[in-house]
Amino acid sequence: MAMTVPTRELMLKAFETGTVIPAFNIPYLPMMEPVVRALRDSRTFALIQVARLEWEKFGAGGLRPVRDEYEKVKDERFTRLHLDHVPVLDEDGLRVDFEPIIAEALRLGYESVMVDGSRLALEGNIAATARVVEMAHSSGAAVEAELGAVLGHEAGPLPPYDQLFASGGGFTSPDEARRFVEETGLDWLSVAIGNVHGAISGAARRQKKVAARLNIERLDCIRRATSAPLVLHGGTGVQKVCLLEAFSHGIAKINIATAIRQPYEAARADSVEKAQQKVYETVVLLVSDELEIAGSAQTLCQ
Ligand code: 13P
Repeated sequence: MAMTVPTRELMLKAFETGTVIPAFNIPYLPMMEPVVRALRDSRTFALIQVARLEWEKFGAGGLRPVRDEYEKVKDERFTRLHLDHVPVLDEDGLRVDFEPIIAEALRLGYESVMVDGSRLALEGNIAATARVVEMAHSSGAAVEAELGAVLGHEAGPLPPYDQLFASGGGFTSPDEARRFVEETGLDWLSVAIGNVHGAISGAARRQKKVAARLNIERLDCIRRATSAPLVLHGGTGVQKVCLLEAFSHGIAKINIATAIRQPYEAARADSVEKAQQKVYETVVLLVSDELEIAGSAQTLCQ
């Protein structure tokens, strides 16, 4: 049987060729099958991912249920499994014992992992990320880490978006990014350049997201400072013109959660099958019309 190409190599190829690998979050297990089917039908390569908050606050169940569901439906021509946000300090400000979670994911066969120390000061973020790099690289897995403030998961309202964007408050600093990448040995860097996460708490989780913009100049500076594949969190609802520009300026992975979770939640009162159909249709539309990458497996995986 042919060896599967490691996620790290596919990300480098996306980075070098100016294309993007979407990473779809799975907060409810029945969402997995229609996502994979949509990728297969559109011949598009993507990551399937779960974040800690999706088994703590939604219905993902845990690392093992997600891995087991993935094993049932995966298609390695088009998919790999990734562990999204394992925070060191979570969205409620609580300390997380992140090492056992990462260790379990590596044992279960997650091919890449994210540690999120972005709520810590730089030194603490470096220390946590370097520890995860040590753990993951010895298993052959790649590591994503975040620098800067990608807001939205915390309870309570965001500051007005235009104000946030204009001030550049919390944006990733290129100088810090250089140091962060050099001192941790991470593989992919998640950046804050105007992107915000979809809300997850209370009634806000059903609201439409703001149409975020991206500061491409800042992205360029970060890219020049680090030379690492860059990741855009908060991928739902970003203005399309910004997205397409970002993919040719270093963004090699885009995380998408809210765009597929909301239609699933809205339709599941009718039936799970209807909700799955909504997820399928949304993914097909996203990869073809929004991201313009339908068929990407052809160039990425050959
Ligand atoms: P959205 O919910 O805005 O798509 O963000 C997803 C994300 O960044 C998950 O890590």
